[in-house]
Amino acid sequence: MAADEPLVLGIETSCDETGVGIVHGTTLLADAVASSVDTHARFGGVVPEIASRAHLEAMVPTIERALKTAGVSAKDLDGIAVTAGPGLAGALLVGVSAAKAYAYALGKPLYGVNHLASHICVDQLEHGRLPEPTMALLVSGGHSSLLLSTDITSDVRPLGATIDDAAGEAFDKIARVLDLGFPGGPVIDRLAREGDPAAIAFPRGLSGAKDPAYDFSFSGLKTAVARWIEAKRAAGEEVPVRDVAASFQEAVVDVLTRKAVRACKDEGVDHLMIGGGVAANSRLRALAEERCERAGIRLRVPRPGLCTDNGAMVAALGAEMVARGRAASGLELSADSSLPVTDPHVPAHAHDHDHVHEISKENLYS
Ligand code: KG4
Ligand code: ZN
Repeated sequence: MAADEPLVLGIETSCDETGVGIVHGTTLLADAVASSVDTHARFGGVVPEIASRAHLEAMVPTIERALKTAGVSAKDLDGIAVTAGPGLAGALLVGVSAAKAYAYALGKPLYGVNHLASHICVDQLEHGRLPEPTMALLVSGGHSSLLLSTDITSDVRPLGATIDDAAGEAFDKIARVLDLGFPGGPVIDRLAREGDPAAIAFPRGLSGAKDPAYDFSFSGLKTAVARWIEAKRAAGEEVPVRDVAASFQEAVVDVLTRKAVRACKDEGVDHLMIGGGVAANSRLRALAEERCERAGIRLRVPRPGLCTDNGAMVAALGAEMVARGRAASGLELSADSSLPVTDPHVPAHAHDHDHVHEISKENLYS
């Protein structure tokens, strides 16, 4: 296998999707996903313990399905990559444990990678190598950030982030208020297509002249939408669901795209990448396209299936780690639910060997 085209299997279990992807350099060979989202739907959000158990049950069959689809044998892999964080601790642990077991049994190097950097790197599978630098707008159920990267395996710099709710969280909460089920993004996206985005003037968070240029806030918007709906209901009037969905969605994507384009201009970056579950939103994609074109910025957004959580994104970043000769993580790798966005991967020297040694000595001999 050519050194710059490594064959890597990636495992993703940070939330409710058990994803296993296999890539060959920047070519996608398999993307197997088993989701437990239906099990969580009746609770209106992801239940961590249920997600962990579902990962455990889906893990081996999903890995086998991915290998079969890719038509490769596990012994031919050049490495195994896994999401080390950020995410739900128990859910991450299932993926990390599985990746360690496969890496150990097969004698392959193990790479613990960052979920957020993976959401960016996945675009290589669709549009080829990421330009350097790349501006990335990352919008998911847990994160909303503007990130500048000169090398996705080693340098990810946060320019701004949400100070309260993530963009996807806002979609999920508004869907709950409107009794539309969980997750809220896809259904609001669908209903908004039949609504008027200018019907209701909902607030644009942190958009004043004195507000931080690259930070986001969606909690005020969420409250404003909920109050507007309550007032309609209290007055005994029918809630125009499609108009509310379209106007709410417009408020979110207006701010996201405006700030992303501004960051590109300020930093002199001519490429914008949008990733994460909310990047599947059709209006976000259309408005970003329009505004980027006007500003002379090349827009890169992966197809919707690669925007939501999947294993291919982890494999894509793992392959880049191998191609660029980054240090493997070693079997001491542990899941880190709050892994900082500035750490694209967890190299072996990041583990605190002395500390581990001290604790085990104490426990064994006391
Ligand atoms: O990246 P992701 O799959 O998981 C996290 O890492 O959070 O993102 C899930 C989020 C959910 O909040 C979901 O409502 C949102 O992405 N989402 C969307 C759309 N599809 C998924 N939001 C808006 N429009 C969509 N079409
Ligand atoms: Zn995600």
